Amino acid sequence: MYKMLHENLAVNENGHLTFAGHDTVLLAEQYGTPLYLLDEDMIRENCRVYLRSLREHFPEGSSALYASKALSFKDIYRIMAEEDMSVDVVSSGELYTAMRAGFPAGRVYFHGNNKTDADLNYALDCGVGYIIVDNSDELRTLNELARNKSLRQKVIARVTPGIDPHTFEAVNTGRIDCQFGVPIETGQAADFVHEILSCENVELCGYHCHIGSQIFDETPFMRAADIMLAFASEIRGKAGYVPALLNLGGGFGVRYVKAHPRIDITACIAALADHIKSSCARLDLPVPAILMEPGRSIVAAAGMTLYTAGSVKTIPGYRNYVTVDGGMSDNPRYALYRSEYTVLLAGRVNEPAEAEYTIAGRCCESGALIQENVPLPKPRRGDIIAVPVTGAYNYSMASNYNRLCRPPIVVLSGGKSRVAVRRESFEHLTANDV
Ligand SMILES: Cc1ncc(COP(=O)(O)O)c(C=O)c1O
Repeated sequence: MYKMLHENLAVNENGHLTFAGHDTVLLAEQYGTPLYLLDEDMIRENCRVYLRSLREHFPEGSSALYASKALSFKDIYRIMAEEDMSVDVVSSGELYTAMRAGFPAGRVYFHGNNKTDADLNYALDCGVGYIIVDNSDELRTLNELARNKSLRQKVIARVTPGIDPHTFEAVNTGRIDCQFGVPIETGQAADFVHEILSCENVELCGYHCHIGSQIFDETPFMRAADIMLAFASEIRGKAGYVPALLNLGGGFGVRYVKAHPRIDITACIAALADHIKSSCARLDLPVPAILMEPGRSIVAAAGMTLYTAGSVKTIPGYRNYVTVDGGMSDNPRYALYRSEYTVLLAGRVNEPAEAEYTIAGRCCESGALIQENVPLPKPRRGDIIAVPVTGAYNYSMASNYNRLCRPPIVVLSGGKSRVAVRRESFEHLTANDV
């Protein structure tokens, strides 16, 4: 039954949940809980799907950038380097991690709506390939810093196409009224491009937009591309500038629960390519190299969190709770967005559900739940509780709230497991306290 959510999930002869071929109950025993697991083979395959499709259907220079805000630690950048991916970073911290992992700076795209002078200097000193300029203030600062270093930095202009892809508002950044980029509709994006073209120490390479996350088909990307290409055509008419590349932002949606659709990314990209080619033909524009920046769809389904159940409570007439040894500190997404997750009893996957249980974390916050009203066999203290599809925006959004130690990341590959991020200790918690 659980094979159906993603192909790296199955049940073995002991009725235990397996992940990437490993018995999750044994992994919990070996590494302790809470525990993040990561299926490296699936991550690599996901990268190949994007790269293959983009390179097959779009002109030379088309590529996939892993949006490393989804999950950032040294090993992930090594994997991305080996897979020939580029990466998008949004802070000096992510850039530093990539550099420490030996990731080639020329394949780094530096994002962010408020890059500080220190960020920009660090990015220039590292020699990042591209900086996605968000606004005029940043542009002027960057131009000056690049001049001081006698550099000409490649940049991409972040513009907002002003469409709503019908995703949850808090994770939707392509609307006009948002803090990222410069809107087309108000005329500001056109002025911004003229300003970039007048700066001597930056070289404009193309346009960027990001319309939102959890997009389950190619249609919103087609709409975004149409708006961006019409904008490109308008600018060509006014300034003679033709973009070499168009970055369409974050990747496709991810199946967190069975009600979410499966996506055939290869087919979506092929359909998107047909659409973009005919739009370009209509506008008489050369087809730009197309970049996509998937984060979630590269790592989410490759991740899983294991917890140990603590107390089980029933409030008669209300509901049942099972508490776990982690919570909002390792996965704040339900508290933030009411994000859906599948929850399983790792040691008794085939047992029929007995009742609905709300999975509560151990943080002192009433909204700090992992999921509400999940049908489960009766949980007992000590049971291993598995939450699949936690590879994206879990470790990277984790905190030490309540002075809880962040879990380790154990990477699974080729039948072996290895610790890629160590479990935090109490010493880590007080390391910066004077
Ligand atoms: C600019 C940009 N690119 C890429 C992404 C990655 O999106 P996803 O993880 O949904 O693929 C985001 C997510 O917020 C983003 O803001």
